[in-house]
Amino acid sequence: MSGTSDQAARPGEKRVVMVAAVADNGVIGAAGRIPWRIPGEQKHFRAVTSGHTVVMGRRTYESIGRPLPDRTNVVVTRRTDWSAPGVHVAHTVEDAVALARDLPGDVMVIGGAEVYAAALPLADEQILTEVHASPEGDTCYPDFDRAEWVEARREAREGYDVVWWARSPVSADA
Ligand SMILES: NC(=O)c1ccc[n+]([C@@H]2O[C@H](COP(=O)([O-])OP(=O)(O)OC[C@H]3O[C@@H](n4cnc5c(N)ncnc54)[C@H](OP(=O)(O)O)[C@@H]3O)[C@@H](O)[C@H]2O)c1
Repeated sequence: MSGTSDQAARPGEKRVVMVAAVADNGVIGAAGRIPWRIPGEQKHFRAVTSGHTVVMGRRTYESIGRPLPDRTNVVVTRRTDWSAPGVHVAHTVEDAVALARDLPGDVMVIGGAEVYAAALPLADEQILTEVHASPEGDTCYPDFDRAEWVEARREAREGYDVVWWARSPVSADA
Protein backbone atom coordinates (compact mmCIF):
# COMPACT_ATOMS: atom_id res chain seq x y z
CA MET A 1 0.00 0.00 0.00
CA SER A 2 1.40 3.37 -0.89
CA GLY A 3 0.09 6.01 1.48
CA THR A 4 -1.81 8.82 -0.23
CA SER A 5 -1.84 11.21 2.70
CA ASP A 6 0.06 11.90 5.86
CA GLN A 7 -2.56 9.87 7.71
CA ALA A 8 -1.21 6.35 8.14
CA ALA A 9 -3.52 3.58 6.98
CA ARG A 10 -3.47 0.29 8.84
CA PRO A 11 -0.88 -2.07 7.35
CA GLY A 12 -2.18 -3.93 4.32
CA GLU A 13 -5.37 -1.91 4.19
CA LYS A 14 -6.45 -0.40 0.91
CA ARG A 15 -7.77 3.13 0.91
CA VAL A 16 -10.71 4.31 -1.14
CA VAL A 17 -9.75 7.74 -2.40
CA MET A 18 -11.85 10.24 -4.34
CA VAL A 19 -9.73 12.22 -6.79
CA ALA A 20 -11.41 15.22 -8.41
CA ALA A 21 -10.77 18.70 -9.71
CA VAL A 22 -13.53 21.04 -8.59
CA ALA A 23 -14.04 24.68 -9.59
CA ASP A 24 -14.94 27.33 -7.01
CA ASN A 25 -18.60 27.01 -8.07
CA GLY A 26 -18.59 23.21 -7.67
CA VAL A 27 -18.44 22.50 -11.42
CA ILE A 28 -16.45 19.45 -12.55
CA GLY A 29 -17.73 19.02 -16.11
CA ALA A 30 -19.45 20.66 -19.08
CA ALA A 31 -20.95 18.79 -22.04
CA GLY A 32 -18.98 15.64 -21.24
CA ARG A 33 -15.66 17.41 -20.84
CA ILE A 34 -13.62 19.14 -18.14
CA PRO A 35 -14.04 22.89 -18.78
CA TRP A 36 -10.45 23.96 -18.14
CA ARG A 37 -6.97 22.82 -19.02
CA ILE A 38 -4.26 23.24 -16.40
CA PRO A 39 -1.13 21.28 -17.39
CA GLY A 40 0.22 21.02 -13.84
CA GLU A 41 -3.09 19.64 -12.65
CA GLN A 42 -2.94 16.78 -15.16
CA LYS A 43 0.55 15.94 -13.97
CA HIS A 44 -0.72 15.93 -10.39
CA PHE A 45 -3.60 13.60 -11.37
CA ARG A 46 -1.18 11.21 -13.05
CA ALA A 47 1.20 11.23 -10.08
CA VAL A 48 -1.59 10.58 -7.57
CA THR A 49 -3.28 7.77 -9.51
CA SER A 50 -0.37 5.93 -11.22
CA GLY A 51 0.15 2.37 -10.01
CA HIS A 52 -3.34 2.28 -8.51
CA THR A 53 -6.74 1.09 -9.68
CA VAL A 54 -9.04 3.81 -11.02
CA VAL A 55 -12.83 3.49 -10.86
CA MET A 56 -14.86 5.64 -13.24
CA GLY A 57 -18.32 5.96 -14.75
CA ARG A 58 -18.97 4.86 -18.31
CA ARG A 59 -19.42 8.48 -19.45
CA THR A 60 -16.07 9.55 -18.00
CA TYR A 61 -14.42 6.53 -19.61
CA GLU A 62 -15.90 7.47 -22.98
CA SER A 63 -14.78 11.09 -22.65
CA ILE A 64 -11.21 9.82 -22.05
CA GLY A 65 -11.63 7.29 -24.86
CA ARG A 66 -9.04 4.71 -23.72
CA PRO A 67 -7.81 3.01 -20.54
CA LEU A 68 -5.55 5.28 -18.50
CA PRO A 69 -1.97 4.00 -18.84
CA ASP A 70 0.00 2.76 -15.82
CA ARG A 71 -3.26 2.24 -13.94
CA THR A 72 -5.74 -0.64 -13.67
CA ASN A 73 -9.08 0.62 -15.02
CA VAL A 74 -12.55 -0.30 -13.73
CA VAL A 75 -15.59 1.15 -15.54
CA VAL A 76 -19.07 1.20 -13.97
CA THR A 77 -22.08 0.78 -16.24
CA ARG A 78 -25.60 -0.57 -15.85
CA ARG A 79 -25.33 -2.03 -19.36
CA THR A 80 -24.75 -5.75 -19.18
CA ASP A 81 -23.54 -5.87 -22.81
CA TRP A 82 -20.89 -3.12 -22.45
CA SER A 83 -17.18 -3.88 -22.63
CA ALA A 84 -13.98 -2.22 -23.79
CA PRO A 85 -10.49 -3.61 -24.31
CA GLY A 86 -8.20 -3.27 -21.31
CA VAL A 87 -10.83 -2.35 -18.71
CA HIS A 88 -12.64 -4.28 -15.99
CA VAL A 89 -16.41 -3.75 -15.89
CA ALA A 90 -18.71 -3.57 -12.84
CA HIS A 91 -22.45 -2.95 -12.69
CA THR A 92 -22.77 -1.11 -9.39
CA VAL A 93 -20.42 1.35 -7.69
CA GLU A 94 -20.21 -0.96 -4.65
CA ASP A 95 -19.16 -3.88 -6.90
CA ALA A 96 -16.63 -1.65 -8.68
CA VAL A 97 -15.01 -0.66 -5.38
CA ALA A 98 -15.03 -4.28 -4.13
CA LEU A 99 -13.41 -5.43 -7.39
CA ALA A 100 -10.87 -2.62 -7.26
CA ARG A 101 -9.86 -3.64 -3.72
CA ASP A 102 -8.59 -6.93 -5.25
CA LEU A 103 -6.63 -5.11 -7.97
CA PRO A 104 -3.27 -3.28 -7.68
CA GLY A 105 -2.75 -0.36 -5.30
CA ASP A 106 -5.39 1.78 -3.69
CA VAL A 107 -8.90 2.39 -5.03
CA MET A 108 -8.99 5.76 -6.79
CA VAL A 109 -12.49 6.95 -7.67
CA ILE A 110 -12.03 9.39 -10.55
CA GLY A 111 -15.58 10.42 -11.44
CA GLY A 112 -17.76 11.63 -12.84
CA ALA A 113 -20.48 13.22 -10.77
CA GLU A 114 -22.80 10.22 -10.60
CA VAL A 115 -20.00 7.89 -9.50
CA TYR A 116 -18.55 10.42 -7.02
CA ALA A 117 -21.99 10.76 -5.38
CA ALA A 118 -22.42 6.99 -5.04
CA ALA A 119 -18.84 6.34 -3.88
CA LEU A 120 -18.54 9.15 -1.32
CA PRO A 121 -20.01 7.07 1.57
CA LEU A 122 -17.37 4.39 0.85
CA ALA A 123 -14.42 6.81 0.72
CA ASP A 124 -11.64 7.12 3.31
CA GLU A 125 -9.98 10.08 1.69
CA GLN A 126 -10.57 12.83 -0.88
CA ILE A 127 -7.83 14.49 -2.88
CA LEU A 128 -9.52 17.57 -4.31
CA THR A 129 -7.96 20.07 -6.64
CA GLU A 130 -9.66 23.38 -5.97
CA VAL A 131 -9.58 25.16 -9.33
CA HIS A 132 -9.69 28.94 -8.92
CA ALA A 133 -12.29 29.60 -11.62
CA SER A 134 -16.08 29.48 -11.98
CA PRO A 135 -16.77 28.06 -15.45
CA GLU A 136 -20.22 27.22 -16.76
CA GLY A 137 -20.95 23.53 -16.47
CA ASP A 138 -23.58 20.83 -16.11
CA THR A 139 -21.93 18.48 -13.60
CA CYS A 140 -20.87 19.23 -10.04
CA TYR A 141 -18.97 17.46 -7.28
CA PRO A 142 -21.34 16.26 -4.53
CA ASP A 143 -21.72 18.36 -1.41
CA PHE A 144 -20.11 16.77 1.60
CA ASP A 145 -20.40 17.53 5.29
CA ARG A 146 -17.11 19.22 6.32
CA ALA A 147 -17.78 18.12 9.92
CA GLU A 148 -17.25 14.50 8.82
CA TRP A 149 -13.87 15.25 7.22
CA VAL A 150 -10.53 16.65 8.34
CA GLU A 151 -8.42 18.81 6.05
CA ALA A 152 -5.15 16.89 6.45
CA ARG A 153 -3.01 18.88 4.05
CA ARG A 154 -3.26 21.77 1.56
CA GLU A 155 -0.80 22.83 -1.11
CA ALA A 156 -1.25 26.11 -2.99
CA ARG A 157 -0.11 25.88 -6.61
CA GLU A 158 -0.35 28.13 -9.68
CA GLY A 159 -4.11 28.54 -10.30
CA TYR A 160 -5.26 25.81 -7.94
CA ASP A 161 -4.89 24.29 -4.48
CA VAL A 162 -4.66 20.57 -3.76
CA VAL A 163 -6.45 19.55 -0.57
CA TRP A 164 -6.20 16.17 1.12
CA TRP A 165 -9.31 15.37 3.18
CA ALA A 166 -9.36 12.38 5.54
CA ARG A 167 -12.56 11.02 6.95
CA SER A 168 -12.82 12.16 10.55
CA PRO A 169 -12.11 9.26 12.93
CA VAL A 170 -15.18 10.27 14.95
CA SER A 171 -17.39 10.03 11.86
CA ALA A 172 -15.79 6.72 10.75
CA ASP A 173 -16.42 5.16 14.18
CA ALA A 174 -20.02 6.44 14.41
N1 LIG B 1 -13.23 17.55 -12.86
C1 LIG B 1 -13.04 16.25 -12.63
O1 LIG B 1 -12.22 15.87 -11.77
C2 LIG B 1 -13.79 15.24 -13.40
C3 LIG B 1 -13.51 13.87 -13.25
C4 LIG B 1 -14.25 12.94 -13.98
C5 LIG B 1 -15.25 13.36 -14.84
N2 LIG B 1 -15.49 14.70 -14.96
C6 LIG B 1 -16.58 15.17 -15.83
O2 LIG B 1 -17.81 14.66 -15.32
C7 LIG B 1 -18.72 14.49 -16.41
C8 LIG B 1 -19.23 13.05 -16.44
O3 LIG B 1 -19.92 12.81 -15.22
P1 LIG B 1 -21.35 12.09 -15.22
O4 LIG B 1 -21.92 12.16 -13.84
O5 LIG B 1 -22.15 12.64 -16.35
O6 LIG B 1 -21.01 10.60 -15.66
P2 LIG B 1 -20.13 9.42 -15.00
O7 LIG B 1 -20.34 9.38 -13.51
O8 LIG B 1 -18.75 9.47 -15.52
O9 LIG B 1 -20.80 8.16 -15.72
C9 LIG B 1 -22.16 7.93 -15.54
C10 LIG B 1 -22.45 6.54 -16.03
O10 LIG B 1 -21.78 5.60 -15.21
C11 LIG B 1 -22.66 4.51 -14.95
N3 LIG B 1 -23.05 4.56 -13.55
C12 LIG B 1 -23.05 5.63 -12.71
N4 LIG B 1 -23.49 5.28 -11.49
C13 LIG B 1 -23.74 3.97 -11.55
C14 LIG B 1 -24.21 3.03 -10.60
N5 LIG B 1 -24.51 3.40 -9.34
N6 LIG B 1 -24.39 1.75 -11.00
C15 LIG B 1 -24.09 1.37 -12.26
N7 LIG B 1 -23.63 2.22 -13.21
C16 LIG B 1 -23.48 3.49 -12.86
C17 LIG B 1 -23.82 4.69 -15.89
O11 LIG B 1 -23.40 4.15 -17.12
P3 LIG B 1 -24.43 3.56 -18.22
O12 LIG B 1 -25.18 4.75 -18.75
O13 LIG B 1 -23.52 2.93 -19.23
O14 LIG B 1 -25.30 2.58 -17.51
C18 LIG B 1 -23.91 6.20 -15.97
O15 LIG B 1 -24.59 6.67 -17.12
C19 LIG B 1 -17.95 14.83 -17.68
O16 LIG B 1 -18.18 16.19 -18.00
C20 LIG B 1 -16.51 14.64 -17.25
O17 LIG B 1 -15.60 15.39 -18.04
C21 LIG B 1 -14.80 15.63 -14.27
